[in-house]
Amino acid sequence: MTSSTKKIGVLGAGQLGRMLALSGAPLKKMFSFYGQSNQEPAAQLGHPFFSSQDANGLADLIDFADVITYESENTDVALIREIAKTTPVYPAEKSLYTAQHRGREKALFDQLDIPCAPYQIVDSLDSLKVAVEEVGLPAVLKTTTEGYDGKGQFVLKEARQIEQAWSEIGGRELVLEGFVNFQRELSIIAVRNANNEHVYYPLVQNVHHDGILRYTIAPARNLTEAIQKEAEAYMQRLLDELDHVGVLTLELFDTLDGLIANEMAPRVHNSGHWTQDGAETDQFENHVRAISGMPLGDTTACQPIAAMINIIGQVGDTEKVLEMPNVFLHLYDKEERPNRKLGHINIVAETEEGLFDVFKKLASFLPKS
Ligand SMILES: Nc1ncnc2c1ncn2[C@@H]1O[C@H](COP(=O)(O)OP(=O)(O)OP(=O)(O)O)[C@@H](O)[C@H]1O
Ligand SMILES: [Mg+2]
Repeated sequence: MTSSTKKIGVLGAGQLGRMLALSGAPLKKMFSFYGQSNQEPAAQLGHPFFSSQDANGLADLIDFADVITYESENTDVALIREIAKTTPVYPAEKSLYTAQHRGREKALFDQLDIPCAPYQIVDSLDSLKVAVEEVGLPAVLKTTTEGYDGKGQFVLKEARQIEQAWSEIGGRELVLEGFVNFQRELSIIAVRNANNEHVYYPLVQNVHHDGILRYTIAPARNLTEAIQKEAEAYMQRLLDELDHVGVLTLELFDTLDGLIANEMAPRVHNSGHWTQDGAETDQFENHVRAISGMPLGDTTACQPIAAMINIIGQVGDTEKVLEMPNVFLHLYDKEERPNRKLGHINIVAETEEGLFDVFKKLASFLPKS
């Protein structure tokens, strides 16, 4: 794995893969995707396309690739282990194994002295009752694996909801975590390559609605150097412990008592899409650089403030977006469907007022309340 690493195989063919290919092309990288259908967002940006419908699809992707990466933390760990016998896979097994299970993730946070909410793993109604005693209420009950966009979660406010919560999302392993009274939600994206070079993007502020990320402001407003350094210190511990190669994202709650870790993702992240138009090197290019043994790019924001607004469910009036200066449209070529991420809009501005003027003009893309 050197900078002569040219062919990148991606497990998955969604929008993250699509944007990896768009950012990797100027570095002369060639992409190929392993997905379900050649109608997926990344399929047309990689050649050849390998289908999971085809018995040899995966073997052909491995044959093609100098290095393999993946789009989702739900990728099968056993598969990664198998592929790694013949072809480098980044991020490697340890990062994937840890990040796909909320219990393992929190155990790692504890081990590395990264603050997180109190939690208990539960696997029965009785153990849930005990956990409620230990953790206290309110609390959030979550599936340990496969949650996304707030799915597989139940907010427990009172003890009389315990049975309902278990019947709605139980019957499988869950984690009960204390409800964090946060001021706001933040995330940080870091990148590490195999030469142990680390770079960090500025902390960003994320606003969710109905469990889905709606917009990101970058850098987070009123960001102090102390809080940025605190987040970077947590990331450095995670990167080093995992021997992580590629992008790693950490979601955090900003509270009156400091930062509390929520969860991490061993991949490029929705809260980093602003970097495509707002940072010297975007997160996708830096992931490509990291996994192909290249030096990492500058993560500095190139404007005082930037934002990303997700386009959810319906594409809407994108003509208006195209007419606005310093506003950039990114569409994923997906069919409209309720709650589906179809694209995003990046905005760069000189001032916070300037940014919020643009937000007013783009109100139709923002949540109503
Ligand atoms: N312990 C908690 N206390 C308070 N709010 C929480 C807690 N856990 C989760 N939330 C809220 O629910 C949202 C989704 O939770 P989380 O990030 O754990 O799940 P997810 O399904 O993996 O989400 P995503 O895919 O959007 O990252 C958080 O961004 C936060 O707004
Ligand atoms: Mg999350």
